Amino acid sequence: MAAVQQVTLSNGVEIPQVGLGVWEVPADQVQQNVETALELGYRHIDTAAAYGNEEGVGAALRATGLNRKDIFITTKLRNGDQGYDQAFVAFDDSLKHLGLDYVDLYLIHWPSPKRNLYVQSWAALEKIYEDGGARAIGVANFLPEYLNVLLDGSDIAPVINQFELHPTFQQAEVERVSKNEGLAVEAYSPLGRGVDLKEPEVLDVASRYDATPAQVVLAWHMAHGRIVIPKSVNRARMEENINSVDVHLSGDDVALIDSLERGNLQVFDPREAEFSQIR
Ligand SMILES: NC(=O)c1ccc[n+]([C@@H]2O[C@H](COP(=O)([O-])OP(=O)(O)OC[C@H]3O[C@@H](n4cnc5c(N)ncnc54)[C@H](OP(=O)(O)O)[C@@H]3O)[C@@H](O)[C@H]2O)c1
Repeated sequence: MAAVQQVTLSNGVEIPQVGLGVWEVPADQVQQNVETALELGYRHIDTAAAYGNEEGVGAALRATGLNRKDIFITTKLRNGDQGYDQAFVAFDDSLKHLGLDYVDLYLIHWPSPKRNLYVQSWAALEKIYEDGGARAIGVANFLPEYLNVLLDGSDIAPVINQFELHPTFQQAEVERVSKNEGLAVEAYSPLGRGVDLKEPEVLDVASRYDATPAQVVLAWHMAHGRIVIPKSVNRARMEENINSVDVHLSGDDVALIDSLERGNLQVFDPREAEFSQIR
């Protein structure tokens, strides 16, 4: 099985560097998807209340009989549940849906600047953390302008910033500020939703390492010390993705992939992502 490294977060909690993302995995397929992942050696699953599939993730954990403490589970507070009181209700719902009594990581899913509730939401996450409901708390999609407000208005610093990051959309300033503030960087859509796998430079590096394009892109992230959560519903591709831990790129090849930045956003701009995420 692939030897996935652990990344130590600023509060001492360890997170497996490669996880499985389950955004857009239908609720009736996610249990099988997660069971396959756990069989292949994944020990880190990234879900969210907004994905509507927390139940299936929890069912898979129970079905495998693996020890709970050996699996790292992330879920997220959706925009429509932001605010101090509402965040506790939403967190309890997530635990209920997952069938767990704690999660490993709880994130604010988007800053949602027009709601302007993220500082209050964060205060709830701090309490959830202090009460043992989450082993670690963090944020997603926090550009420096939001991160700085949060850091100024909080007692406990977030341990992770999860944001869109792939070869053609690197958000170097978000990564720099996050790392400077002691947050681990977790790349979502790490494969650029599949789009970046067709870049000629990625194909060139892959052919030279006897690796696949996805493995090259994931190895590039790991060379930068990032946590990655590629999504796949295909067993062979899931296996390929976790085996990227065995691909080690030269400094020149890391620099070659670094050169692919061209502002190629694939998901949503955090300044504008105001949808409630409640179906
Ligand atoms: N916090 C947030 O706001 C946020 C936003 C977006 C995503 N995320 C998280 O990040 C996770 C991953 O991001 P993502 O799903 O947007 O995109 P991604 O992981 O970059 O790419 C997934 C796409 O690539 C394909 N793929 C996966 N492995 C492949 C391989 N080895 N070779 C070729 N194609 C491959 C998948 O197809 P198949 O499934 O058919 O293999 C799917 O179409 C999400 O599932 C979610 O957990 C978080």
